[in-house]
Amino acid sequence: MTNPGIEDVVVDESVAKLNAKVVEVREGRGRVIIDVDEDLLEFVSELRSIHRARILLLHTKNVCREKECLKNIRELVASLPFYEYINPWTTFAVRAERVGEHEYTSLEIAKVAGDAIIEVVRSKYGHRPPVDLDYPNVIVAIDLIFDELFVSIELGGDLSWHRRGYRVYEHPAALKPTLAYAMIRISGMRDGESLLDPMCGGGTIPIEAAYVFEDAKLYCSDFNPRHVKGAIMNAKAALVDKRIKFFVLDARDIDKKFGENAIDHIVSNPPYGIRLGNPWRVRKVYRKFLEVARKIVNKNIVIITTEHEYVKQIAPQLGYNIVHERVVAHGNLWPKILVLE
Ligand SMILES: C[S@@+](CC[C@H](N)C(=O)[O-])C[C@H]1O[C@@H](n2cnc3c(N)ncnc32)[C@H](O)[C@@H]1O
Repeated sequence: MTNPGIEDVVVDESVAKLNAKVVEVREGRGRVIIDVDEDLLEFVSELRSIHRARILLLHTKNVCREKECLKNIRELVASLPFYEYINPWTTFAVRAERVGEHEYTSLEIAKVAGDAIIEVVRSKYGHRPPVDLDYPNVIVAIDLIFDELFVSIELGGDLSWHRRGYRVYEHPAALKPTLAYAMIRISGMRDGESLLDPMCGGGTIPIEAAYVFEDAKLYCSDFNPRHVKGAIMNAKAALVDKRIKFFVLDARDIDKKFGENAIDHIVSNPPYGIRLGNPWRVRKVYRKFLEVARKIVNKNIVIITTEHEYVKQIAPQLGYNIVHERVVAHGNLWPKILVLE
């Protein structure tokens, strides 16, 4: 499961790192179903583009919405080999989610599924497994999306994997690291190249780039010294601070710091201006930044913004082509990732 809008990035990463075979991609839904060799399962948690991973035990369609259909869900769950994952010495919990209209609630689904799992385990071992809703050893995820039922085992517990351990400084408008990773991939950057994030906030983009590349030249700047300090703290926690250069600079002055074509890729998450309440102020920053960025950038600029219409309007005037655009989910917003060349 991932951030809606970057499913193709998950496909590329899982094929490259896990030799995965793609079974189904739910574009815009943040779900990718892949087939992975069992020996490689433990490496799934190393994927940088996903929020969580599950072992899918059942995927079926045509689950009906009437109250009496709860017993069909119970029967389907009872047919699965839960004794392979849960035994009387491990605690478990069922987390159920539901999208669409049904005559039963997700709590009722969790209850019948939990009963079915207890039955499956008890008939194998003679004892029931204990339920622990707060800190279970095993989490069974049941998703009913309209008439489609997914039953799976969570691989990484309740917390989403986009919460990287290095976030010791919480920037107020931090980018999800999975989106930062996706933007780096979308830029087409290769090892040995340079990347600048001139509005780097807590440093998410350069830090993710430092995980991906061993020999990249990485720069992280922001005009707010507090954020630059925070970015250094995060990079230290991520053990990559020596691989990134940090400085305080206005993004409208980057041509004073870097020479012509000195930076291969600018990848950035500029302010959207929503909280500032004045889009004109932010648009002025975009225009000047893009004007000077053109002088120093060699390959492309990748930005994520809700101001995409404005950027698309001014890009040709400033000598750029928009070569790629896509909508992604970011919190409760739907910004676009744009690639300018
Ligand atoms: C959306 S935040 C970036 C968050 C960052 N990607 C992260 O994950 O922490 C935008 C950043 O742009 C910075 N910023 C705004 N205008 C700027 C300018 N003219 N020059 C440099 N930085 C600027 C803000 O200080 C803020 O940290």
